[in-house]
This record gives sequence, structure tokens and C-alpha cells, in this order.
Amino acid sequence: MEVLQPKQETYQLNDYEKARESFQWDDVKKEFSWYKSGKINVAYECIDRHADEGKGNKTALLYSDASRNESYTFNDLKKRTNQAAHMFRRLNVNKGDRVFIFMPRSPELYIALLGAVKMGAVVGPLFEAFMKEAVRSRLEDSEAKVIVTTPELVSRVPHEELPHLEKIILVGEHAATNDPFYSFSEEMKASPNDDSAIEWVNLEDGLILHYTSGSTGKPKGVYHVHNAMLQHYQTAKWVLDLREDDIYWCTADPGWVTGTSYGIFGPWLNGVTNVVRGGRFSPDDWYNTIDTFNVTVWYSAPTAFRMLMAAPKDILEKYDLNSLRHILSVGEPLNPEVVRWGWDVFKHRIHDTWWMTETGGMLICNYLSEPVKPGSMGKPFPGIHAAIIDNEGNELPPNEMGHLAIQTGWPAQMRKIWKNDEKFQEYFSIPGWYVSGDTAFRDDEGYFWFQGRNDDVIMTAGERVGPFEIESKLVEHPAVAEAGVIGKPDEMRGHIIKAFIALRPEYKTSDELKSEIQKFIKTELAAHAVPKEIEFKDKLPKTRSGKIMRRVLKAWEMNEPAGDLSTMDDA
Ligand code: PRX
Repeated sequence: MEVLQPKQETYQLNDYEKARESFQWDDVKKEFSWYKSGKINVAYECIDRHADEGKGNKTALLYSDASRNESYTFNDLKKRTNQAAHMFRRLNVNKGDRVFIFMPRSPELYIALLGAVKMGAVVGPLFEAFMKEAVRSRLEDSEAKVIVTTPELVSRVPHEELPHLEKIILVGEHAATNDPFYSFSEEMKASPNDDSAIEWVNLEDGLILHYTSGSTGKPKGVYHVHNAMLQHYQTAKWVLDLREDDIYWCTADPGWVTGTSYGIFGPWLNGVTNVVRGGRFSPDDWYNTIDTFNVTVWYSAPTAFRMLMAAPKDILEKYDLNSLRHILSVGEPLNPEVVRWGWDVFKHRIHDTWWMTETGGMLICNYLSEPVKPGSMGKPFPGIHAAIIDNEGNELPPNEMGHLAIQTGWPAQMRKIWKNDEKFQEYFSIPGWYVSGDTAFRDDEGYFWFQGRNDDVIMTAGERVGPFEIESKLVEHPAVAEAGVIGKPDEMRGHIIKAFIALRPEYKTSDELKSEIQKFIKTELAAHAVPKEIEFKDKLPKTRSGKIMRRVLKAWEMNEPAGDLSTMDDA
């Protein structure tokens, strides 16, 4: 067994190691103002607290993209998030109302998001690639009252169809100010920057709604509360190993949970300097970001590492990456060869972490002070009981494969699926356990090894895509009679999306039609939901009740036996 030992000489043994045995989640509460007042607000704890404790002039945010290069101190962000909180109040947002944020990464995104949290709203971040229908369905389900977006994206917000959506705040040039449109910069200017708009909330009050995909039905609104901060804070401290002088960069967009839990809350609760790089991925930009900002701790994803791995070798000679001291990964299986490459190129181990939108924070991780087994997700965080269980909830012995499950009750656990209790209960169908939907085993030393998903959720380039949402959109295309969507293994992206399509009789198969269907998904749903491959079939395998059998499609694709076909209508 290949094991990468920690580099004892390069860091002090961290607190995690000392505290692991005696750790209690309740102790973490003492770190926050909650302990004194009984009330809290995570935006205050992220920003104002550091400003109020003498770190006001420390850099909180380093932002760059092709046209902007900006730096904000904790004092700056305190004032601006106060203004944003006042702005939302003036625009009639009340505690618990949903405020959505739909825009590319920029300082304004972070200011608006924290400002909304500060005044007690529940924020809903939406990835900028979503098209009209995806935006509409999420705003409709959440009954969002306000959305912050940009003039470029606003045409994808069909407010005429959304009775609950009262106001649209536009960030950027040419922002109109006639109802329901408001200008972010004008409204901010008209808002004071004192702290009187802070809403002191309870730990169980709503914080954030992240829409995520399942294998059936529409996207689910995963609802998290302020209490999650206990876990964001402590995992960022012990797993990301954040320290006072760190320059931290999480590459995830806040439209996905990694980009909020560890792109906003975790680092800022620990008071470190947070780097945000706008724009799209390019190896040059990424290495340049590490070099320019002297990034020390870097949290990214296997797909990104694989793309860097595939970039021309000489690119590395252009940049100085010696500032890095700790590298981590999340979102999909981290291949051992990527870990080896990381060791080669950065002289550091890449540390895998496992968690989900629903878990709110990291649960199984590799730690700086412990050996890493390439290919393993690591060990449960202190205070987390993870296990491999069978269908009845019995814990299985080491080296047996089963459901990866977590004993319920960790701080960042989702509190509900928005307006869908039935879906919520499905995760807890085995009493006492949260069942993740992943299959894994645990080895003799307690390390967990990911084996696959046991539903049809597709992880592509680190993003989670529900086959059902794409199938539903595909059949809206005039040529498509039926569609089945699966994930097909791919070296670079983990999986790519493949669609099997049966056409309506009056249509003929052609490459033009394939591209037209791909374009249709891109404009109607999102670029990351486009099937990279389309295969036309005369008919699709279905159960007698008419459900597309993705399992059979997968078997076709992989040239494997299709298994039990007794429920198929035309076996
Ligand atoms: O299948 C697992 C995979 O990503 C799923 C969760 O996706 P999402 O909610 O989008 O959250 C991703 C980032 C927190 C999991 O059920 N996954 C996540 N981390 C890993 C992983 N698969 C293998 N190894 C991981 N480290």
C-alpha cells in the first residue's frame, strides 16, 4: 500500500492532532459571540468581528479578473456589507425572505451575499451559467423576493412569470432604476454603513439555500442554518489548516456549496485573507494567481488538477509556486496519479476531502499531520461518526462495500429540503443514519475509499448534474420523442454527459440535429448540462410503468451485461 507521510519538518503539528480525542462540537460554540449573547450572525462573525478585534486593516479579500484588481480590508467589507444589509432592508426584505444572487464572481457578489445574510435573509446563490428555465424554476420554488444580478444576465430572469419576485437589483453599468429594477451602486450609495441593520438570529435560523440535483425530479433546495458555522469554522481550521498569515484560495464558485462553505464562511470565520479569481479556468491564469498573490493554501477539484496536469509542461517554468504549503481537493474521486503529479510538481501532497451539498461541510478528510493514502478520501473529522452500512442499517466490517452513511446530528447538516419533506426524509430512511447515496468501504486503519454513486446523479467536471432535468428539457425539443441521460466515464472530467435519444418519426438523424439539440440545452438549461455525446436510438429501454432504464443505457455504453430485465416492457 502506497502511503505518503506528512512532511514533519515543514509545519508544526496542528491543534487538530492534539484535540482530536477530547473534541466536542459544543466547545466550538464558545468561539463565537453566541456564547455571551445567545444570538449570532455568521456574516458578523466572518467580517465585523475581525474588524472589531483589531484586524480592521488586514486584507480580507484579494480579487482579480481580466479587468479588475482589487483589495478589501475587513474594515472595507464591514462597511460595505453593512450598506448592503441596509439596502436590502430599504427594499423591503425581511428576516427569512429569500434573496438570490445570480452573477459572475466579483467583489459585489460577496458583498451582496454577506449583506443579505447580515440582515437575516436566506441567500440563494445561482451559478452564472444557468439559463432562463433553470433560473425560473429555482426562483419559483424558493419564492424568492429579490434577486441581485447583472444587466448581461437579467434577460434570464423571467420576472413576469414570478409573482413573488418583487425586485431586481442590477450590478454594473446601465443599471436602470424603474421598478422592479434597481441599481446596486445607487442603492448602496443611499444606504448608511453603520451596523444597525444587523439581524441577530438564532443558530437554527435560515442561512442559505443551495439548489442541487438528484436523479429524479426537479432540483432540490438544500436548506442550511447559521449553526453550520460551527463546522465551517472548525473544519477550515483543522483540515484547511488555516493560520493567521495564510493567503487562501478556493477555486469554487459560490453557486456551488464549496464556494460558500469554504469560499466564504470557513476562511473568513478564521479571519484569513481570501483570494477570489474571476473569469474562466486557464492554466496560465491559475498559476499566475498563485504566484501573484503568494497563495499558501489552495482548495480545488480533481477536474481542475487534471486539466493543469494536461497543460504543456513548460508552463510551470513561468511561475513561482513556492508560496504553496497546503493543497486540497473535493467533489469527485481524486485519482492516485493526480496525487503523484501534485507531489512531483508542487512537492506537496494533495489532500482529498469528502462531503456533499446536503452535509454542508467536510465530513471525511485527509489531514496535514497524518499519512495520506492516495485514492482514499481519508478519515472522519473528529465528532463525526461515518460508517459503511447495509440496507438494514447494520455497520459492516472493514473492507466490505456498502452505503456510506453518517450518524445524524452534525452541525452543518441540512435542516430541510425546501418545500419537499418527502425528499428530505429519503435521506434518513434508515433510522439514525444519513445515507449519502455513495458506495464506499473502510480499510483496517479507518480510511474510507469511494467506490461510486448508487443513484444516477452525474458528477461531471466536479459539478453535480441530475439526469432528469436534462431529459425533461430534451423532450421539449420538437425532434425528441424520448431521452435517457447517463454519465460516461471520462479521463479529464470524471464523467461526461451522454444522451440517448429516440426521435419523433418525422425527423431524421444527422450531425446537424445533434448540434442543434446540444445548443438547445445550452441556451435553455446551462452549458455544463449539455450532453457532450448524443446517440440516436429507435426506442429506449423502459420499465412497464414507462420509466427510462438508465441502468440499461449504462450497460449498453459500457458493454456490460444489463442485469435483471424483468421490469422492462419489451425485454
Ligand atoms: O458522489 C460524491 C461526490 O460528490 C457528491 C456530492 O456532490 P455535491 O453535493 O455537488 O458536493 C460536491 C462538493 C462538496 C458526493 O455524493 N464527491 C464529493 N467529494 C468526493 C466525491 N466523490 C469522491 N471523492 C470525494 N472526495
